[in-house]
Amino acid sequence: MENTPTTLKPNLFKNKVMVLTGGTSKILNQPARDFMSLGGNVALISRRPDQLKKVADELSKSTGSFAKGYQLDLKKAKDEDYANTVDAILKDFGRIDVLLNGAAGNFLADAENLSLNAFKTVIEIDTIGTFLMSKHVYSKWMKNNGGSIINISASLHYLGTIMNSHASAAKAGVDAITKTLALEWGPKGVRVNGVAPGFIEGTEGFDRLMDLNKANSKKNLSKNSEGMVDLVSKFKSVVPLQRYGNRKDVSNTVMYLASDLSSYMTGQTLLVDGGVLATTPNWLVHMPDFMRKWAKF
Ligand code: COA
Repeated sequence: MENTPTTLKPNLFKNKVMVLTGGTSKILNQPARDFMSLGGNVALISRRPDQLKKVADELSKSTGSFAKGYQLDLKKAKDEDYANTVDAILKDFGRIDVLLNGAAGNFLADAENLSLNAFKTVIEIDTIGTFLMSKHVYSKWMKNNGGSIINISASLHYLGTIMNSHASAAKAGVDAITKTLALEWGPKGVRVNGVAPGFIEGTEGFDRLMDLNKANSKKNLSKNSEGMVDLVSKFKSVVPLQRYGNRKDVSNTVMYLASDLSSYMTGQTLLVDGGVLATTPNWLVHMPDFMRKWAKF
């Protein structure tokens, strides 16, 4: 992975601090790295303590800035756990300029076979996690100092997505939070925006969502179903930019929203998808094999 986005000014984030949830995932490792390469320091939040130290140490070593990990499982955390984590970060870093709410859970599962706990788990991580982190960072720091909050969203809910009722609902909630907090907190100098990535290669989400064999469904849609497994090569050709996205594409947008380059933007969620929403409104519906089989159940 590259260390410095060449188009941005070195030291753009000097002495600034970014907090990010889901900080050990592959997709969020890149914005952490870029922020640090541009002079900032980073507090990573994740449920995986073993990964936290490893990722924080590697980032610090390779960028020359400072990263530290904080363990918090957004699926189980109580309101006071969030508050305590933000207190600990402020004690260590002294300020928070950017909050990147990135932690997310997702898998393919049809609604009929999705348990209450499965649905709730994704809402807890994505929607409640975004709300509570934002609330505590705002009340403990940004309310008096300003800042930029960036919520990672998705385009699943724009038109509805098969086998994704849970994550679609969760991300629709995230977008609503983005718009509302932008209105409430704008007067205090806090901008709140979102990034909705499309198909981004080399991420856990891509691996999970592009493989129908991983779908948890009694419909057994993928197995023994000709033409359904190789989504990865099929869909690239209908992306207007003719390639899947990469982590740098997402990170560059995060850097833009984190910095003063976007100083007059708030309440917006930017779609970073190579234009694919316009060509594949609901990608599985374009697969006749899939729809024939789906309709039979
Ligand atoms: N299909 C259907 N239900 C599923 C599932 C799947 N693939 N994976 C988990 N669930 C259900 C579980 O069965 C459980 O429900 P139950 O108690 O009724 O059985 C519920 O979700 C919680 O599962 P649990 O195992 O306790 O949670 P977890 O710690 O494994 O976390 C996720 C669940 C969502 C966080 C998990 O899928 C995950 O680790 N995701 C990684 C992050 C990710 O997906 N990133 C990409 C985002 S695009």
